[in-house]
Formats: sequence, structure tokens, C-alpha cells
Amino acid sequence: MRKAVIAGNWKMNKTIKGAKELIALLKDKVNTDKVEVVFCPTYTALSTAVEELKGTNIKVGAQNMHWEDNGAFTGEISADMLLELGVEYVILGHSERRQYFNETDATVNKKFKKALKAGLIPIVCVGESLGEREADIQKKIVTDQVIAAFNEIEASDAAKSIVAYEPIWAIGTGKTASSEQAEEVCRWVRETLDSLYGTETSQKVRIQYGGSVNASNVDELMGMENIDGALVGGASLKEDFASIVNFGK
Ligand code: 13P
Repeated sequence: MRKAVIAGNWKMNKTIKGAKELIALLKDKVNTDKVEVVFCPTYTALSTAVEELKGTNIKVGAQNMHWEDNGAFTGEISADMLLELGVEYVILGHSERRQYFNETDATVNKKFKKALKAGLIPIVCVGESLGEREADIQKKIVTDQVIAAFNEIEASDAAKSIVAYEPIWAIGTGKTASSEQAEEVCRWVRETLDSLYGTETSQKVRIQYGGSVNASNVDELMGMENIDGALVGGASLKEDFASIVNFGK
């Protein structure tokens, strides 16, 4: 059985002070071994998060990284720099990175390979836009994104990875995909992985849903066969995150 993994993507929110306050609010409520819980604060709060979460089961993830080890890449952060801080996960190819910072399938693939080689657990994001959903081409869009992301990634590495399906039209809009819509695409993701690696590997990959996940819709989403977790934005910044992590109770 795949262990559920619920990650909070704080995006560009919380100073160090704010991060400390949020962690203090949530720490005891989300410290469980039934679900893998990951907090993904901004770069500046990563050290604080690692420090504040010591002695708990809660892990820390970054929201992005560069694929090179070091060099003339102003403003960028490498995998080793994250590992040095005690970071264990990294979100890659979030739709906001693709949309506002020109990330492409090719750069996401480079980052994905690097993260795996470095020993970080990647959370690779895919998902269609509203226009693509309206044109009913979401299957092709998401399938192509998965194939491109996993290009030249070996089965043993693929099995350790997490894919997050986040339909762009559901992010920050309060408009969640229905659990059937979310399950359908997550199933396509698994079928794509199945065609790339076979069933043994595809059954190990954890697939998250993301997009307006909240305390009221999490139970239904988590009840779906191919949904193994959630990537939570807005609701990860408040007490609701505790209800999300403790879904089903
Ligand atoms: P919201 O939960 O705010 O819709 O954000 C989803 C998301 O983008 C998580 O990465």
C-alpha cells in the first residue's frame, strides 16, 4: 500500500517569524506517522522549519531548485544547498513556475533528474489550464507532461517520486476538481507510468491532487483509488491544514 503524502506549499508567504508561528500552531496537530507530512516554506524559512520540526515526523521541502551544482546562475539554489539545510523534498515544475518563470518540460526534467541523483524526493507537478480543459485535451496535456518529466529516469528512481496533479483552473480559485475528475486524471498519470515502467513501479509512485483542497473536500478526494495525497496551497497556511492531514477522522 502507498503511504499517503500531504504537503503544504506555502508559496511566497511567511517570513521567518510567520513560519515559526505557523509551525507552532500546526506541529502537534499534524505530527503523525500514518501520513507523510511535508511543509514547503520559502527558501528563507527552510532552516527555521527544519529546526522547529526536529523531533517530529514532519519533513521539510523546498518549492524549487536549479539542476546545476553551482555556477553563474544568479538567484538560483542547488540541490546540495537544500540538503545542507536538512531539506528532504522539493516541488518541481509547479504551474506558477511554468507560467511566470518560463519553466518548461525540458527544465523540469533536468531538475527532476538532479533532485533524484542528489537524494531529494521530488514532487513533480503537472496539470492542464482552463482553456485546455474546455478544449477537452487534458488527457493529452497531462500525459505529455508526465512523459517529458520522466524522460531518461530509471524505474527505481521513478518509484521514489511523487507526482502532483494540479489543474491550473482549480488553484487558488476555490474551484476544486470533483473527486471523479481528479481521480480520472490521476489514473491517467498512473497508466502513463505503467506504460513507461510497468505495473510494479507505477503502483509505487504516489500521486497527489492539488487545487483548492480543504477540510471539507479532502475525505472524498483521499477516498479515490489513485489519489495518494494532496498538495495544499492556501489551506496549508492555517489551522485547516491539521484537519486535512487528519482526513477521515
Ligand atoms: P490552493 O490549495 O491554494 O488552490 O493551491 C494549490 C497549489 O498550487 C499547491 O501547490
